[in-house]
Amino acid sequence: MIRVPVATPSRSYEVLIGSGLLARAGECLGRFLETRRAFVVTAPPVRRRWAKVLLQSFSASGIETSILEMPDGERAKRLSTLENLAEKLVKQGADRGVTLIALGGGVVGDVTGFLASIYMRGVDVIQIPTTVLAQVDAAIGGKTGVNLMSGKNLLGTFHQPRAVLVDPSVLETLPSREYHAGLYESLKCGVIGDPGLFRLFEDRRREILDRDPAVIEKVIADSVRLKASVVTADEREGGLRQVLNFGHTIGHALEAETRYTQLLHGEAVAWGMIAATHIALSTGKLDSVTAGRISNSILGFGRLPRMELKTANILKRLRSDKKTRQGVVHFVLPREIGKVEIASDVPEAIIRSAIDEIRKLARN
Ligand SMILES: NC(=O)c1ccc[n+]([C@@H]2O[C@H](COP(=O)([O-])OP(=O)(O)OC[C@H]3O[C@@H](n4cnc5c(N)ncnc54)[C@H](O)[C@@H]3O)[C@@H](O)[C@H]2O)c1
Ligand SMILES: [Zn+2]
Repeated sequence: MIRVPVATPSRSYEVLIGSGLLARAGECLGRFLETRRAFVVTAPPVRRRWAKVLLQSFSASGIETSILEMPDGERAKRLSTLENLAEKLVKQGADRGVTLIALGGGVVGDVTGFLASIYMRGVDVIQIPTTVLAQVDAAIGGKTGVNLMSGKNLLGTFHQPRAVLVDPSVLETLPSREYHAGLYESLKCGVIGDPGLFRLFEDRRREILDRDPAVIEKVIADSVRLKASVVTADEREGGLRQVLNFGHTIGHALEAETRYTQLLHGEAVAWGMIAATHIALSTGKLDSVTAGRISNSILGFGRLPRMELKTANILKRLRSDKKTRQGVVHFVLPREIGKVEIASDVPEAIIRSAIDEIRKLARN
């Protein structure tokens, strides 16, 4: 088992990583529970495949577990879901000593984390992420949230988990589009801070796409280390944590512009990374060989969904993004593999040409 520490001012905890760990969850996580009772929040696709393994392991460790099911998918990331889950908790006698366990993708993790942060003014949460995206990103760092009609993640809190348990073997049942989309976030970790991880994507692409267990475990563990080190240095996005937004400035605009129906988050980030790489090249911050390596790695995963883009709309969305302050758009730009910088002075003509670039690629 690999242990990766996360230390923040509000709490220090570990991410435990290993294939087959889900079946040992009781033994690994028992010491984090205040009482011998836990509530597992999950969604149907994950419940069907993985809940039994977790429950058996808990029960073997003398932990009584109840399952709380929530609806699946981004549409369930609403305050009403929190309220329904909270009512169920009360009915089942969950008090202030309860620990919630999030078993699922980023949606389940964000909802459960948010619920834990406000249920009876705050109870413990343990994250057991089951998508690539949640394992390398969403489950680590304590950001929780739900969507409003007006926009994504507009309600939320910071609530660090007691522990995170990552079992890469659960990824074997993940639909392949979800699997690929999550890997783009992992590739992002390589570009922003880990040249060795980036090379894994270049040298072992076939094994990664074939979900070779040993290679996947390494990809996940390296990505977790990167995310954990960034969160440790900057819990609340003061500055450093911004580097995690590589690919996200244009990515968010693309997701919104396609009404969250055409692109998965990771796919939008993939396009966003291609655009940011183009901007870095055009502003002289990155050499053309490295730019080519980054773009080829992204495109080497296979075809990204096509989309129609209107440059003017994307520019408007960039200016109104919640991370944009006073109309100044920030980009995370690669300088070399493993090193990025934040730029707020990218000329509009260059942003336009980056959008043209992805439009061209998205049509082919
Ligand atoms: N808190 C953070 O820091 C943070 C960071 C990034 C993203 N997020 C959030 O994460 C969410 C996206 O997460 P996601 O990509 O994991 O999507 P998701 O949670 O919707 O999961 C994708 C689909 O895969 C299914 N699934 C999950 N694990 C499975 C498995 N092992 N086998 C089979 N099916 C499985 C899910 O039930 C769902 O249908 C977004 O809401 C985003 O805002 C949060
Ligand atoms: Zn992301």
